[in-house]
Amino acid sequence: MAAGKRRVSDRFRDELDQLRDAGLYRELRPTSDGTNAWVTLEGRRVLLLCSNDYLGLAGHPALAEAAARAAREWGVGAGASRLVSGSLRIHDELETRLARLKHTEAALLFPSGYHANIGAITALVGKGDAVFSDALNHASIIDGCRLSGRACTSTPMATPMRSVARCAAARRRDGGSSSRTRSSAWTAIALRWPSSASSPPRTTRC
Ligand SMILES: Cc1ncc(COP(=O)(O)O)c(C=O)c1O
Repeated sequence: MAAGKRRVSDRFRDELDQLRDAGLYRELRPTSDGTNAWVTLEGRRVLLLCSNDYLGLAGHPALAEAAARAAREWGVGAGASRLVSGSLRIHDELETRLARLKHTEAALLFPSGYHANIGAITALVGKGDAVFSDALNHASIIDGCRLSGRACTSTPMATPMRSVARCAAARRRDGGSSSRTRSSAWTAIALRWPSSASSPPRTTRC
């Protein structure tokens, strides 16, 4: 093999070694005991403090029974994406009830928090927007900002409002319009940014 050309497997091995050295190598660790608070992990009995099942609903007998009933009636998959033919009546019913519960016009189901952030941010952020996102935001928010394909800056927790204020002042100077989107669930703010204006204030690009 010509000098300078390394096998792909060697490159991957080096990258994995670098991750291990940096303490960033991650492995999937199967647990027994389903979604209980106490599980057996690598032979040890441990208390799970990293789960999102705060209310213990994942193992609730009534919900497990309802899920089993739904699977018997509707099958274990929608068969296609909802935009194709997988939008089932039970999806609609659940969304209607969730919207009523949350006093909103409508609700849209996503299979996970990750998908919700990717879907919502890319839908909300459009041409001419700039996104300011807390540097410590969840990876799904950062990926949503990146996927929106718009000017996206990641600012430290303490400074996003300062960056946005500077940006808004520049926007007024440059005559941009004033649409602004903000969700309480994530500190990511989109400002309509006139195409002729100078770039948003520099922080770190996502
Ligand atoms: C703010 C936020 N967004 C998204 C997620 C990802 O959710 P999921 O694990 O359902 O993809 C989490 C998970 O903890 C979260 O805290």
